[in-house]
Parts: sequence; structure tokens; C-alpha cells
Amino acid sequence: MIGLEDCRALDARDPLAAFKARFAPGEPGTIYLDGNSIGPMPADVPRRIERLVTLGWRDARRRGWQRFDWLEKPWRLGEGIAHIVGAGSKDVIFCDSTTVNLFKLLAYAWRLRPERPVIVTEAHNFPTDLYVAEGLVRFVGGNAALRRIEEPDALGAALGPEVGILCLSHVDYRSSRRWNMAEVNRVAEAAGVFTLWDLSHSAGAIPADLSGTQADFAVGCGYKYLCGGPGAPAWLYVHPRHQDRAWPVIAGWMGHADVFAFAEAYEPVEGVRRQLTGSPGILANEAMAAAVDIWREVRREDLAWKHRSLSETLVALLEEQCGSLGVEIASPRDYEERGGHVAFRHPGAGAVTEALLAQGVVGSFRKPDSIRFGLAPLALSHEDLWHAVARLRRVLESGIWREERYRTVSV
Ligand SMILES: Cc1ncc(COP(=O)(O)O)c(C=O)c1O
Repeated sequence: MIGLEDCRALDARDPLAAFKARFAPGEPGTIYLDGNSIGPMPADVPRRIERLVTLGWRDARRRGWQRFDWLEKPWRLGEGIAHIVGAGSKDVIFCDSTTVNLFKLLAYAWRLRPERPVIVTEAHNFPTDLYVAEGLVRFVGGNAALRRIEEPDALGAALGPEVGILCLSHVDYRSSRRWNMAEVNRVAEAAGVFTLWDLSHSAGAIPADLSGTQADFAVGCGYKYLCGGPGAPAWLYVHPRHQDRAWPVIAGWMGHADVFAFAEAYEPVEGVRRQLTGSPGILANEAMAAAVDIWREVRREDLAWKHRSLSETLVALLEEQCGSLGVEIASPRDYEERGGHVAFRHPGAGAVTEALLAQGVVGSFRKPDSIRFGLAPLALSHEDLWHAVARLRRVLESGIWREERYRTVSV
């Protein structure tokens, strides 16, 4: 049995323990296990935003472009998290939303291979990933097709000579099942297929290895584990071998070789930056920068240790404390096959999530019967997990979750 003292002992060995103080604590008494929706706020965000709006917007206005690093932020932010996703420092930029970046890279990759027009994805991928692929197929009017695989085992057989791109979420947003990225990239490369990964449910939780595993393209959210806040820019990665092969699909002025030359003819800048579109979201980038300045100091190996330790501790606590009360782990048992969050089933999952909220434990419910606890490694301790599971146990033992007031489930 894992006790409170065991959790404290793990916290004493935690190489990332000091980072907790760099985040605002949130509402008193609350244990926040929803880093897979919106990550915690770096404590210096209010000060940085205030500085930006006073010195930048109020005082400098247009001259802010010269006085501050507004223009460079998209790639400076990318440099700051590149080691966390295993990319070269010049291969990642922050811009737009994940959805827009998916479209940009899917269409870019698709156009590189007109003779292989089929896109393969998972039938149960995150909705926006499916919609974007379906939308692209409609947009190019019959020149492309989408093939959806039902089960991971069907992947190899789906990658025929007509397939150009494989578009997958690294981690499933419901179950937290994680693809073996190295293995998938190897199989795809052998089949002559490009890979486009959505790392929204792993980046900032589990270190990825985009370059080392030869991933072609990737995208991910800034507001989840990366802690960039609501409205944060998303990020995208293009392997250097593809960066200069074609015009970007949205040839915007921020991807021009000389932005302020106002040239009438478009000329893409070299490298991943050509995927930039219009003006950066300067306020949102500042909040993102507060988080990225923390990420710059985080070592990959420490992140890997911490997340594994949190995830394994949580699974063990859930089983020991709540297994006899109807809780069943829905995520893969093997840590290597699990992503940023742990999902578990309970027949009253929606009402239990609400009752837990009232006890100060923030998780998220997914239909029909699953609860997700997202593990943001920089801001959580093992002791937090112990208290969260103890509260869950009380909610289940007492049966308060059956009360009328917990029937309406919030998003
Ligand atoms: C896997 C995945 N991809 C994409 C998105 C959506 O990203 P955005 O809102 O930045 O377009 C989400 C949002 O939860 C997600 O979970």
C-alpha cells in the first residue's frame, strides 16, 4: 500500500520539485488534475502582461515592433521547448491554433506527394484532426481520400502505395493510449509515408523525440501541459528535410523572406518560419513566453522521471484506494503505452466528477463513464495525488455523488 509518507519520500527525491513554486497556486485547497485541458498559470504572467500592455501597447504602440521581440517570439518560443519535444532548436515555431496548423501541414505534406493522395488516420482521433482531414479532402475535390483505421493493429495493412500521409495523435484524448512513435515512424518510412503527429496530449508531460525518431511533421496545443494559458498559440514542427520544399499553403506576410519590405511578390523565408501566417498574437505570446522561460530550465530526463513517477503512483493509489469502490483503470497498464493523463471508469463518472469538484479536485469527465486526471509534472507533487485519491475515496464511500445536485455535469 502506498501511504502519505511514501508520497512525501518521492517528493523529496523529485528533481523538478522547485518548479511548483513558479506556478500560481490556484484556488486554496484545490488539487488541479486537468493539465490536459488548461495547464496551470506561471506565477509571473500577470506582471508580464501588465508590463506588455503598458510599455508595449499604451506607450510604444507601433514602435513596439522595434522595441520588443514581438516579431521573433514565434521562433524564440519554439527554441525554448524544442528539447522537450525532441526537435532541433530551429525546427519549431508557435503560431495559430492546433487546428489551423494541422490544416497547414496536412495540406503542405499532401501537396508534396500528388501521386500518393490517400491520408490515413484513426477513426477515433480527436474530432478536429478528423474534420481537418475530411475538410482537406473535400477542398481538393476528389483528388484526395481519407482512410480511417479502427484499431492500432490495422495500421501496417493500411499503408499501401497510394498512401502519402499518416496523421495520428501521439496520445488518445480519452483513454491516454500512446503510440510508439519510433516504431510507427519506422513502419511509415519503410512504406514511403510521411507522418504528421498531434502531440497535444503528450508535449509538456512526456518528452517526445521528433527528430530522433525521424517524424516528418508535428503540431500541438500551447494551453495544455505546456501551460501557455487560454488562447495560447499552438506550435508546429517540420523536419528540416521538408522545410524548404514548397510554398506554405497559407502564404502570409509573416512567412515572407523580408516581412517589412512589403514586396508585391511573395518569397518564402527559409526554414520552418515560412509556415507563419499573419501578425502574432502578442498578448497570448507573452503568457506563453512566461511558461516557455520555465521550460527552458527543465531537463528532459527529469521530466521523464517525474511524469512516470506521478503516473505510476496515481494508478497504484486509484487501485488500492478505490478499486473495491467501482473504479477501474481505463488507460493502458504499461506506462510506456500511456500518455499525459490517466483515465479510469466508474458507472457514475459524470456525477462523481462533479462531486469531486465540490471537494476541490478538478478532473474531467468524458462520456460515457470515464474520468481523466491530467498530470502536469511541473506543478504537481505525489502528495497532491495522495490527497486527491483520498477525496475520491470519500466521495465514493459516502455515496454523496448520487445526490441530485451532482447530476448536471459541467464541461
Ligand atoms: C488532440 C487534440 N488536438 C487538437 C485540439 C484542438 O486544438 P486547438 O483548439 O488549438 O485547435 C485538442 C483540444 O483539446 C486536442 O485534444
